[in-house]
Amino acid sequence: MSPLQLQLLGLVRFHTGIRPSVQAPGTHTPALCEEVVKKLVAPNPGGVYVDGTFGRGGHTRAMLAAMSPSGSLHAFDMDPEAIAAGKELMKADSRFTIHHAPFSSMKAVLKPLGVRISAVLFDLGISSPQFDDAGRGFRPEADGPLDLRFDQSKGITAWDFLMTASREEIIRVISEYGETSDLTASQRIADVICLARAKDALPKRTREFAALVAQGKGPEYQAMHPAKLTFQALRIHLNGEFDEMRKGISAAFGLLGEGGRIGLISWKHSECAIIMDIFRSLEAVRDKEPLLKWYRSLPEAEQLPERWSMEMDDITRPSEKELQTNSRSRSALLHVLRKRRMPRLADLESLVYALPAWCNVTQPATSSTPPKKRRRAEMEAAVNLIFQIIS
Ligand SMILES: C[S@@+](CC[C@H](N)C(=O)[O-])C[C@H]1O[C@@H](n2cnc3c(N)ncnc32)[C@H](O)[C@@H]1O
Repeated sequence: MSPLQLQLLGLVRFHTGIRPSVQAPGTHTPALCEEVVKKLVAPNPGGVYVDGTFGRGGHTRAMLAAMSPSGSLHAFDMDPEAIAAGKELMKADSRFTIHHAPFSSMKAVLKPLGVRISAVLFDLGISSPQFDDAGRGFRPEADGPLDLRFDQSKGITAWDFLMTASREEIIRVISEYGETSDLTASQRIADVICLARAKDALPKRTREFAALVAQGKGPEYQAMHPAKLTFQALRIHLNGEFDEMRKGISAAFGLLGEGGRIGLISWKHSECAIIMDIFRSLEAVRDKEPLLKWYRSLPEAEQLPERWSMEMDDITRPSEKELQTNSRSRSALLHVLRKRRMPRLADLESLVYALPAWCNVTQPATSSTPPKKRRRAEMEAAVNLIFQIIS
């Protein structure tokens, strides 16, 4: 992009507060690309890598460029258009293989190859070409079929789901995957859907369906289309995104060797919550862990058992420079997990919580005055008493 273009974008942002995207339609600008390469590939350029979400291959290409000739990369995607792009890349680079399969199947696909994986990347969610293509039905603002599947040859469309699901199921999907605590809004949206289908008038097109959702929901306080989160919820449900995430991360963890890394680019709070939940169950004990220090101070402390665990790096966010050229990356976060042979924090916690000495720690203080202040007050009272006696 020319300096003039950058200046113009800066002006738009200054006057409107909006970060304009400068992405050409049909293309996908990978988020946090430099950071992905630095954190996942740079430590071992000759390794075997996995890109679980190929999309248009932006991250894959950057990773291949940083890899040595002895390295190799396997990519997965569910979308036939992504697979077509991947097959083109396979012709151009013999180190690369594309698999038309969900990333949850990576263990079944890669285990027979007997390779030790250095790092796995998951760039979660939807690619820009998928989002921009009205024919896929992902956008409430565009006119297209109410479909919302990553792979249109499998499963059922959003319209089919809404025609056959119970009102309770529709409410659950909208509130659980639409990241809303506004249960009333979810109920109202489900109600207008049920009312429409009872009259055999549930819209088959996205724009009309979005208008129906907006009608049911009423005023929207966030700066976005009122149907945006309903579309997101339907997409997550139809593509089993959260279940895939859990299975995919677990498969990746199983394939990695000591020090192997999982990079996850998340886009919303619910994805972060799943990552943290998985991490918590495998979290390695940090050296500075207060509970570990306390446990080690006990005479009966034993060596903790070592198991496959995870460490997590600090989260990486897009730089201001990246945001200037790719506004869509504004909510992207890069989480990097490292597989380690170390004691798990969950094991330490179970051990500590069963100790009689732990009960003393968790006992509430008998007075509202903190122990240190209490001791000081007692000392002062004693000194005063001595002075009174001797004077
Ligand atoms: C955010 S895009 C990835 C973009 C990619 N990093 C790039 O640079 O072009 C997410 C991609 O993952 C795919 N996808 C989503 N869930 C998947 C799953 N469970 N298994 C395989 N691919 C999946 C989508 O079809 C989409 O192409």
